[in-house]
Amino acid sequence: MKSKLFFISAILLGVFLLQSCNAQKSNDVIADNFNFASQQLLYAVDLTDRAVSNDKRDSVVKANSPLVSPRTMEKDGSLKMVPARDWTSGFFPGELWFMYEYTKDPKWEDLAVRFTTPLESQKLNTGTHDLGFMIFNSFGNGLRLANKPGYKDIIMDAARSLTKRYKPNAKIIRSWDHNRDKWQCPVIIDNMMNLELLFWAFKESGDSTFYNVAVNHANTTMKNHFREDYGTWHVIDYDTITGEVLHRNTHQGFQDESTWSRGEAWALYGYTETYRNTKDNAYLELARNIAHFIFTNPNLPEDLIPYWDFDAPEIPNEERDVSAATITASALYELSTYGGEKAGDYKKWADTILDNLTKNYRATLNSDAGFLLLHSTGAKSLNSEIDVPLVYADYYFLEALLRKNKLDSNQSLF
Ligand code: GLY
Repeated sequence: MKSKLFFISAILLGVFLLQSCNAQKSNDVIADNFNFASQQLLYAVDLTDRAVSNDKRDSVVKANSPLVSPRTMEKDGSLKMVPARDWTSGFFPGELWFMYEYTKDPKWEDLAVRFTTPLESQKLNTGTHDLGFMIFNSFGNGLRLANKPGYKDIIMDAARSLTKRYKPNAKIIRSWDHNRDKWQCPVIIDNMMNLELLFWAFKESGDSTFYNVAVNHANTTMKNHFREDYGTWHVIDYDTITGEVLHRNTHQGFQDESTWSRGEAWALYGYTETYRNTKDNAYLELARNIAHFIFTNPNLPEDLIPYWDFDAPEIPNEERDVSAATITASALYELSTYGGEKAGDYKKWADTILDNLTKNYRATLNSDAGFLLLHSTGAKSLNSEIDVPLVYADYYFLEALLRKNKLDSNQSLF
């Protein structure tokens, strides 16, 4: 009897120790990365100030398009800054809002406001589909976390501007205006990421136009952007009168029939988020099928950080794309909250991605132009931003860590 009691106590103690050890490990990854980010992002802010004062462009260009946000690191190690109209301008302010969310330190709120404010210039920009990235990641996070006066109107203006790109016959939002000789109405899988702005505008205003545009875009994309195995084409070109698909191409992937890794990650995130906003099971099922494509792909490396294209020709001698990994991890945490037989796997894979990024992909403190993570690839097919830090990799890294923090302490994500 005594030995039985001893045996049971030993097992209970073992379980308790294992659980506290797991909780400790989870805390380590989150606290360690936020501690690193709190130093590295201050260094980045300092570099942005220096980059702005060293801006060598002529004074007219400088006045018309001031540099406002970091995007990546140049080959010489210097910081590359972009003007507000660049699709990446909202990520750095978003990171500063995430720092405020984690630390509650008003210093981060002040910095976030400082880097968010210049993006107001984009709220009426109808020449881009990227207003979600630019305005929702900056002003949207600011509204959520600090309820700043004026932010709501700016986001609403941006949502109205985005709807101006909607083509009612094709039931799709136009992505790009460039390459007009090649495409009539190009739509990229990335465009799924801008729908959250429209769902927010619908909830805020009650105007169903926003909801219908978003849902129609999601449905048309679901019909035309996916292959049988749930890999995506990057660019689908539409006839805006008949709605017919004219071309299926790539721009940033290896070739038209390959699956560009970041595109697949945008799809996973976009349909998971669209399920959150509609509760339509078709989107949830699609998100699960996309996750299945990624995590059963024979070309996914053991550490779960993908090569820049799942079909890149020289795998395993190809560059990784850490941005695809961080977008995927953040999406997986949300997907894990919607149940299903793989829910535990989604959380486990996301945890593994964060662990491996922390151990093997992190930048050096007070170096690497102030970025958090190395080894992303913007567009190898265009010979651009190959194996570099990218601001959006860092944004989704912090978002994933915040989501993990909430899940591990039994809080809801939204
Ligand atoms: N949305 C542009 C990109 O992912 O590169």
